[in-house]
Amino acid sequence: MKVIVVGGGVAGMSFARGPSGLMGPGEVDIQLISKAPPETSNSHAAQGGVAAVIHPSDSWEQHRDDTIAVGAGRCDVDVVERVVRKGPACIQELLNIGARFDTDTQGRLSAASEGGHHAPRVVHHSDHTGVELVRVLQEQMRNANNITIKETLLALDLLVTEDKRGRRCYGVRAIDIHSGTVHELYADLVVLATGGAGQVFRHTTNPIGATGSGVAMAVRAGVPLRDMAFVQFHPTALYDPQRKGTFLISEAVRGAGAVLLQPDGTRLMEGLNPTADLAPRNVVARAMHTVMREQNVPHVWLDATRIGKRFVQQFPTIMAHCKAIGLDPIKEPIPVMPAAHYLCGGIRTDVQGRTALAGLFALGECASSGLHGADRLASNSLLEALVIPRHAAAAVMVGEQLGALPEDRELGRYIDTGSTAAIAAVVAVLRDVMTDRVGILRDDAGLCEAILELERMHVKVDRAWAAGERSLSFYELRDMVAVGRAICEQAIAEPRNAGTHWNGDLVPQTHNQQDLTFDRA
Ligand code: SIN
Repeated sequence: MKVIVVGGGVAGMSFARGPSGLMGPGEVDIQLISKAPPETSNSHAAQGGVAAVIHPSDSWEQHRDDTIAVGAGRCDVDVVERVVRKGPACIQELLNIGARFDTDTQGRLSAASEGGHHAPRVVHHSDHTGVELVRVLQEQMRNANNITIKETLLALDLLVTEDKRGRRCYGVRAIDIHSGTVHELYADLVVLATGGAGQVFRHTTNPIGATGSGVAMAVRAGVPLRDMAFVQFHPTALYDPQRKGTFLISEAVRGAGAVLLQPDGTRLMEGLNPTADLAPRNVVARAMHTVMREQNVPHVWLDATRIGKRFVQQFPTIMAHCKAIGLDPIKEPIPVMPAAHYLCGGIRTDVQGRTALAGLFALGECASSGLHGADRLASNSLLEALVIPRHAAAAVMVGEQLGALPEDRELGRYIDTGSTAAIAAVVAVLRDVMTDRVGILRDDAGLCEAILELERMHVKVDRAWAAGERSLSFYELRDMVAVGRAICEQAIAEPRNAGTHWNGDLVPQTHNQQDLTFDRA
């Protein structure tokens, strides 16, 4: 069987690794393609860690309940239970393959606190857990002789065929970003693990490649999405107008005792939610956004001085980044603002990653397995990216094969028409529209304006396509417009506010910060 995995982050690599002993040479040949090395993925950038129950005083039932509460009742309970129950085994398996996690003085795994968790539950490697996970999984990829890796292929479209048994995916069209050669790659199964879409917003913690290509390919192939209205904004991105890109200040910093302050130095979250600074992300981000808007300030403050010298040891990456821009978190508060962080929805899948299109699986952030609902519990994303791919790999072993596949073929080279500056201008407008109309606080009028604007962009993109535009930046714009439209369309259709979706025109009109995570209809 031949499988193409699109995306080189933790979800894609966990799938490619397969459940121990199940996949081997001759059984499944895996071609792992990505447009850049895993070091540029969202997974690699993950600071926090993997949510898993490791303390005897904690329980998988509590982890389930926290996930469902933050997901505002929109999670699939069966999926939640299946995933969180696997947390401890998943950590053990990572330890078995050489992952290193922080431990206490007695050698027991140490777990950090993050928002929405009623127990310290975030297993981590300092403040760069993603780097460690990518390291061990990459090692596994290199040692497997049934996996070939190509890190310069941008997937453009799914290849879909139809016969009397229905539609099915049989490969992908992809472009080599160095040579410009377009390829058709054929497979029994395609697995999308392309990550997030934070780049459709003005400020995002996501890397530059997070343009939602997997979701966009699914849209073009008519594969159903789910929960696209729910975009998580992380409360504490570093406010640094001098720098392109947005650096994350991990929620674990608040878990270690840091608090948010208003511009006048008073506590921002006190009295707004019983768990104050560790409320679910949507609650904290909305409170910050409201303060910033009402007081017309570009950021608020995160006071980590109360952590003291422990900060250096617990958060070396954050410390180094702050120091490099002349900021000392031990002595002074950090300017922070919310930034787009995680797409809670995506391509609709079951708990094994199966989509509605035969021959197509989706995993990780580009998928919507039903785990996250209307907001994602902190550090549940890496857990999902480790657990569901294992289920998927097991399902693939008993999956249907297409029989003799054609040889992969080259379609020729794309022509860069040189309209990069014009495309960058359209992308900037797209980001402004998405941020100002489809961001943390929404209303009907803004959503309608966004839909119209994105519809205009979609028409322009179609015309440019018909006229032969094929540059790399154009392909990314085409994807971002498709994802932006999907977010807008599902946001306007949401009948009630829940989790990250807050439309001021839905009842109730006020948005006090108490208990915003629950159904308000
Ligand atoms: C963080 O470290 O704050 C991010 C972790 C996550 O997104 O779950």
